[in-house]
Amino acid sequence: MAERVIIFDTTLRDGEQSPGVTLNMQDKLEIARQLERLRVDVIEAGFPLSSPGDFEGVSAIAKEVRECIVAGLAHAHPEAVDACWEAVKGAAHPRIHVFLSSSDIHMAHQLRKNRDEVLEMARTQVARAKGYTSDVEFSPMDASRSDQEYVYQMLEQCIEAGATTVNIPDTVGYSIPEEFGGFIRSIFERVPNIHKAVISVHCHNDLGMAVANSLAAVRAGARQVECCVNGIGERAGNAALEEVVMALRTRGDLFGLTTRINTKEIHRTSRLVSDLTGMSIQPNKAIVGGNAFRHQSGIHQDGILKMRETYEIMDAREIGLPSGGAEIVLGKLSGRHAFKVRLEALGYELTAEEFSRAFAAFKELADKKAEIEDVDIEALIADELRTIEETYHLDLLQVSCGNELIPTATVRLIAPGGKETVQTATGTGPVDAAFKAIDSIVGVPNSLLEFSVKSITAGIDALGEVMVRIEADGRTYVGRGADTDIVMAAAKALMNALNRLLSVQRRVGGDAGDNP
Ligand code: KIV
Ligand code: ZN
Repeated sequence: MAERVIIFDTTLRDGEQSPGVTLNMQDKLEIARQLERLRVDVIEAGFPLSSPGDFEGVSAIAKEVRECIVAGLAHAHPEAVDACWEAVKGAAHPRIHVFLSSSDIHMAHQLRKNRDEVLEMARTQVARAKGYTSDVEFSPMDASRSDQEYVYQMLEQCIEAGATTVNIPDTVGYSIPEEFGGFIRSIFERVPNIHKAVISVHCHNDLGMAVANSLAAVRAGARQVECCVNGIGERAGNAALEEVVMALRTRGDLFGLTTRINTKEIHRTSRLVSDLTGMSIQPNKAIVGGNAFRHQSGIHQDGILKMRETYEIMDAREIGLPSGGAEIVLGKLSGRHAFKVRLEALGYELTAEEFSRAFAAFKELADKKAEIEDVDIEALIADELRTIEETYHLDLLQVSCGNELIPTATVRLIAPGGKETVQTATGTGPVDAAFKAIDSIVGVPNSLLEFSVKSITAGIDALGEVMVRIEADGRTYVGRGADTDIVMAAAKALMNALNRLLSVQRRVGGDAGDNP
């Protein structure tokens, strides 16, 4: 049987360190549930000591997820290790991930400690973690810029102290594949007790080589890869999970290795992470970009029609693309049954209440749009599920605008307890007017950082999807909305962001802390 590569997902920890991304507790739980469906081996759920919000998130995920190892991150300090254990201890399979810098530049300028002191801290905190759980991972941060002799020594002592996984981070994305693979190979030769641990890698993408470095490490014997969905993460991001997994699968002839991943969940996971983080996926992104399975040139189209493999190395169905690219179209005559069958084929499991809401929204859309494609259904479901956690509900929006009119919007919101409030405002355009009216009812000062509109399908009756990013009290919140009317889509997106903001404000201490 082929050996397996452990997929360690850090979307909720390193991924959440992407500039501008903040996930609330519901978002984190939703992503964790989807990662479990995707069958990742390890979910790194957060850095519990960094903030009360992170602690709560890790502990909620630990209690809910049963099939994956749930890891928490801790720097090599007793308080961090203790907090990490408190947060992960409810997990079916808990892991403590201890990290400490090993490069001279970090030790001298950040830790202000000498090599012996750092070695002692690493050993002691790994041993402390081991007192809590048998599953302990250790990372010498900035390993790729460290003195390799020192890294060998640190790994040996941490394995001795109880680490069962040793992770080699290319923290600043400095390595080149051949060099990084060589470093991993040398660890097998130079660390005498390495057979007692799994070698993992954690590569950043500053030079665009995170995936290539991870795969070079796998070729050299690493058996855990740390990665993020859509390649998000600190600065230029981490190795993209979908790229690592599909490279191992598509080039099984070369690697001879497997993963546990259910690749049919890749598309859905990617879309969910993009929606909740507000980080759009570039169209030419490998595996999950909008163009990844599209063919433009006549010669390519001709080849694909004759035999798909002429220009495709993967089948879109393998990553769970709805209908594998083929068009299945519903319309206003489609009934509950057809809609349900299509939802099931797309992998949605809705409760009866969610289904009723989704079906009502589908019928409403079908009245405006002749052909409802899979991508429309995905947008519509995302929109419906988003509205469940509302504090304020957008009940009515009416706008008037034109070159001879002052853009004016009237909105009616329903507050908790059912109180209706109506407000009218003018603005530079209909969206501005609608936002001012909404803001004056909700009454939470915020500023709009980003606003983008995209069309889900082609055609004048297409659904428009709006993403907004707002800022309040130093935190950012993303909201999305979809509708055939883009002013309505924009208003829904702002409501979604404000409802997220209100839910974080209700939770005590959801402040961002010091992440690595
Ligand atoms: O990039 C890095 O070094 C990290 C460690 C905490 C593993 O994220
Ligand atoms: Zn990292």
